[in-house]
Amino acid sequence: MSAHEDDPILDVRDLRVWYGTGGDPVRAVDGVSFQIGRGETLGLVGESGCGKSTLGRGVLGLLPDAAAVTGSVRFDGRELVGAPAAEVRDLRGPELGLIFQEPMTRLDPLQTIEAHFREALNTHRPELGKEEVRRRSLEALAGMGIPRTRFGQYPHEFSGGMRQRIMIALALVLEPKVLVADEPTTALDVIVEAQILGILADLRRNFDTAILLVTHNLGIVAEACNRVAVMYAGEIVEEGDARELFAEPAHPYTRELLRATISLETTGLNYIPGAPPSLIDPPPACRFHPRCPSAMRVCADLHPIEVRAPAGQRVSCWLHGPEGQIPAGGREPLERREFAEAEEA
Ligand SMILES: Nc1ncnc2c1ncn2[C@@H]1O[C@H](COP(=O)(O)OP(=O)(O)OP(=O)(O)O)[C@@H](O)[C@H]1O
Ligand code: SF4
Ligand SMILES: [Mg+2]
Repeated sequence: MSAHEDDPILDVRDLRVWYGTGGDPVRAVDGVSFQIGRGETLGLVGESGCGKSTLGRGVLGLLPDAAAVTGSVRFDGRELVGAPAAEVRDLRGPELGLIFQEPMTRLDPLQTIEAHFREALNTHRPELGKEEVRRRSLEALAGMGIPRTRFGQYPHEFSGGMRQRIMIALALVLEPKVLVADEPTTALDVIVEAQILGILADLRRNFDTAILLVTHNLGIVAEACNRVAVMYAGEIVEEGDARELFAEPAHPYTRELLRATISLETTGLNYIPGAPPSLIDPPPACRFHPRCPSAMRVCADLHPIEVRAPAGQRVSCWLHGPEGQIPAGGREPLERREFAEAEEA
């Protein structure tokens, strides 16, 4: 048994996050389960609008009031769904860390960078002395390429990229047990990106931090993640060991995502025809069936059942069975005509 199954620090089961829209809800996360073990990094990939950020925020209890959350998120054995807001808030920072895309929201313009670090560490690690607080702060900043000479400066004295790095250092200085990093490197240049990936790797090694790394970039997943979960239209369609999954993708969507990645050997950029569906009224049965090059009749009628693929990953796709559940004629190719009918219905 591997670490994530044996003793997961984060155990998510059948999580649903639906945004109320006045009318029909947006089913942004719709029955997602996964585990992350101590010291593991799980990469979460999928096209824009598939629910990755909603899932990351859902794990940390950071959703707007209009979001309805059901299912279970257990952190180190403690249930977070439905727990009192204050209890979850106290875990955030020292236990549950986060790095989000929008960096400016949490730096106070009236406080120096030093004051930000002092406040974070004094609040969450009151046992640390003044010198230790300073040492850890400077070390975290240096790791992000911010020189110690700038410790006393204010947020407006830094560039946007530097502020992003300061925010990351502020999250990491607390050495959280679980870190959700939502596209932490998208806005940064490649050198800083490499630094951040290195720091995440150190964090994992030195403090056994479990990381959920949301990214569009499959190259980053290959480099930084032990496991990968592929999300499509609010669901995880395939999840497993990153190396095995990339070598032998089992789900057609994963294959298409990999094909769509720019390869240095190819001249053209492949892309997946069509777009992810609306999550207010997603396609029935397999949500990928209108775009799937391998779609069969059963795919438009029945929701796929999760099975183990030959390389060991979990996959929800009728190509992999279970055979006994596929009705007679279910493996016939789905004809185009039927797509049109399914969409009209
Ligand atoms: N606060 C909200 N209220 C209503 N709908 C929302 C809200 N936030 C996100 N959504 C919807 O939920 C769905 C999933 O969005 P989400 O941001 O989680 O996707 P994503 O995979 O992170 O996309 P991206 O790769 O572009 O960041 C989308 O249809 C989005 O429009
Ligand atoms: S279940 Fe069918 S439509 Fe869905 S991904 Fe598999 S083959 Fe394609
Ligand atoms: Mg997002």
